[in-house]
Amino acid sequence: MTKDFTQLPKVTTHTLQEMKDAGVKISMLTAYDYSMARIVDAAGMDVILVGDSASNVMAGHETTLPITLDQMIYHASSVVRAIKRSLIVADLPFGSYQGNSKTALDSAIRIMKESGAHAVKLEGGVEVIESIQRILTAGVPVMGHLGLTPQSIYKFGTYAVRATEDMEAQKLIEDAKLLEKTGCFAIVLEKIPAGLAKKVAENLAIPIIGIGAGNEVDGQVLVLHDMLGINKDFNPRFIRRYLNLYEDMKGAVERYIGDVKSVDFPNENEQY
Ligand code: KIV
Repeated sequence: MTKDFTQLPKVTTHTLQEMKDAGVKISMLTAYDYSMARIVDAAGMDVILVGDSASNVMAGHETTLPITLDQMIYHASSVVRAIKRSLIVADLPFGSYQGNSKTALDSAIRIMKESGAHAVKLEGGVEVIESIQRILTAGVPVMGHLGLTPQSIYKFGTYAVRATEDMEAQKLIEDAKLLEKTGCFAIVLEKIPAGLAKKVAENLAIPIIGIGAGNEVDGQVLVLHDMLGINKDFNPRFIRRYLNLYEDMKGAVERYIGDVKSVDFPNENEQY
């Protein structure tokens, strides 16, 4: 009989491994603030990612590069205060782990100590392996991230699908194996061919979470603002919109403005 993971009071990194072993898909979504994280956790999300996509959707930057470690700690601590069940993974921002492994360890310790997150995620394979090793020695669980790694956007030059060519696909497979061997508890694969993602998920023991990587992986992640339809100008094919909040919220705000202007709000029941 399959274990009922929805009844677990807390999701841990070990739970995710059990889920993969049992063939139960892992749900993961981003959140960056207390109010949204409360809803996502209450809905039964397995993993909440405090992504550096906060740089885009919360701060309005064009890329994820400007967000700082202090800002990530602010977002992650707001999310941590909201949750009862979900595992919280916080992104290490650009510049906080690539320099050397000591900087990486200091960054990971700060984010864990000051936010209360349960794990960190960082982008890259062999290039950042020493940083991952050093973070792991401090007992901090690490999630890897391969494929389209947005912190390298200026190297790629485009947000197009990655690893469509054999050489890049081969490097991705080798990087994934190395991340597993080094001790990462899971890996995000972003925007790569579904067949390649399937191969990685089949060949690795640890959970593989996809975003734009097909459905033959161990779980899925999306950016909250994309799936809620708050971002109406970002439309890659891998997003499924569950709401059209941009239009719904704009409509509500327009109605409020109208009510204020026409002195319909507040009415007798809405005053003292
Ligand atoms: O920052 C983020 O939201 C992410 C996801 C796209 C996986 O890294």
